[in-house]
Amino acid sequence: DGNYTVTMIPGDGIGPEISQSVQKIFTAAKVPIKWESVDVTPVLKDGKTAIPDEALHSVNRNKVALKGPLATPIGKGHVSLNLTLRRTFNLFANVRPCRSIVGYDTPYEDVNTVLIRENTEGEYSGIEHEVIDGVVQSIKLITKEASERCARYAFEYARAQGRDHVTAVHKANIMKMSDGLFLSVCQDVAKEFPDIKFSDVLLDRACLHIVQDPSKYGDRVMVMPNLYGDILSDMCAGLIGGLGLTPSGNIGKSASIFESVHGTAPDIAGQDKANPTALLLSSVMMLRHMNLDAQAKSIESAVLQTIAEGQVLTGDLGGKSTCSAFTNEIIKNL
Ligand code: IPM
Ligand code: MN
Repeated sequence: DGNYTVTMIPGDGIGPEISQSVQKIFTAAKVPIKWESVDVTPVLKDGKTAIPDEALHSVNRNKVALKGPLATPIGKGHVSLNLTLRRTFNLFANVRPCRSIVGYDTPYEDVNTVLIRENTEGEYSGIEHEVIDGVVQSIKLITKEASERCARYAFEYARAQGRDHVTAVHKANIMKMSDGLFLSVCQDVAKEFPDIKFSDVLLDRACLHIVQDPSKYGDRVMVMPNLYGDILSDMCAGLIGGLGLTPSGNIGKSASIFESVHGTAPDIAGQDKANPTALLLSSVMMLRHMNLDAQAKSIESAVLQTIAEGQVLTGDLGGKSTCSAFTNEIIKNL
């Protein structure tokens, strides 16, 4: 059965456990999709670290994928395969909603913001070299084309979601050319969306405002260059309880990959302790992207209800239950 086929990239560490949780819940919720699981262990291609062809073909064929965490070496080694996937499929917008979760208390209430991160360039271009010993350069690449498609996506997303305000986050006071270009592209795109308010804010100021009172950005979509989005989305995730609870979607023209943003958690891998919520909520975003709204709603409600009830929770949420028990409780609540 299954009218759609979706690629599953379980990933490393806790990836396989949380992927299994999603698959069990999808089966129980009778979601009409068939999974195609692929391995993304790095392989060598022409002397470079690459993603196995199988996996690339699968994403190309199915156009939609769900992905767990992939281990990324720090300070050396190959380019993060998380990034290789974004680049290979030109996944130009990274959508990261951040919403308070009832039952998981933090000092902040009613956080409800959406960050959209340019996902293909900026400091993530990977253009680095040593000029002379002790001096290195990293190129921050900003193009009109990538800025524009990301900005346009942010406005379209805002309109589709009934959010009436887009804010561009930047440091155009310092990086007058690169961030200046990003900002001016956003200002131009804003003119095509007269029904949506547009404003801009400096990144540092945005951080200050958000930690003081996240409701200031409550109704909004924030759009920003790649690195700022990486940092600010972790900060916003912190407001609602961390990366174990926040979903994300990498959107492209020919494919989209939905993923949990947290790491591989090697310390608890294979012990049935991981919290699958971030991947589950990412799978809910994926279902909405596929117009499977009823199934999305049903799974989302069951996940949130399980957390709100607070009886069966994983350790990171203050409970003592296993990933499997949490999964079964969600299935009960479907
Ligand atoms: C994220 C992650 C990635 C990033 C890493 C794993 C390469 O932190 O998705 O935010 O830096 O973009
Ligand atoms: Mn990150």
